[in-house]
Amino acid sequence: MAGAPISKTQLTILSFLLSLALVFVLGTGEDGFVRAMDRKLLGLKEEKLSHFRFYWHDIYSGKNPTAVMIIQPPANKSKNGFGIVSMIDNPLTEGPELSSKLLGKAQGFYGLASQEDIAMLMAMNFHIVQGKYNGSTLTILGRNQVFDKVREMPVTGGSGLFRFARGYAHASTHTFDPSTGDAVVEYNVYVLHY
Ligand SMILES: *[C@@H]1O[C@H](CO)[C@@H](O)[C@H](O)[C@H]1NC(C)=O
Ligand SMILES: *[C@@H]1O[C@H](CO)[C@@H](O)[C@H](O)[C@H]1NC(C)=O
Repeated sequence: MAGAPISKTQLTILSFLLSLALVFVLGTGEDGFVRAMDRKLLGLKEEKLSHFRFYWHDIYSGKNPTAVMIIQPPANKSKNGFGIVSMIDNPLTEGPELSSKLLGKAQGFYGLASQEDIAMLMAMNFHIVQGKYNGSTLTILGRNQVFDKVREMPVTGGSGLFRFARGYAHASTHTFDPSTGDAVVEYNVYVLHY
């Protein structure tokens, strides 16, 4: 059978066996609980860069608030609201109007973490509910000096199609109502993922 062309199936099986062999070779370290892996075994191919844009709605007013203050500042001791913590389940929409298409929810909390500035610690997951990324999440953890024009926060990871994600988000306030605390913020998220 010399010279017979290798079929596609044979090729697939061969490359699978080769990567398996690679795992065994790389995996024979001293520690039994850790092994090196070929990233192809997790289906990881080319890393790509995506830009997502969301409008984030922080709603304190009305009958259905999406943000609730869960920790009040200690009476008359707080500088710049230091110590306040809010839990959020904020809609992420395609446009600045709340009635525009719902793309996901920003779930997590933020707290005022600076005594010198109005700066928050943001810890939230963007849970996507549309299209290809439905069910996947992006995790944002960072510092947000809310009255700056553009604030940058790291994307520290993700789940589902965002496994191994990393990147950053730029947040800029679209509207803010100081009487209610309601805000609409534009989030531009740049993510490297597979
Ligand atoms: C802070 O509040 C406490 C309790 O209400 C009060 O006893 C205290 O005098 C206040 N301190 C200042 C500096 O206003
Ligand atoms: C997103 O996924 C959920 C859970 O699998 C499903 O119920 C829902 O219909 C999906 N939404 C879209 C827009 O595909």
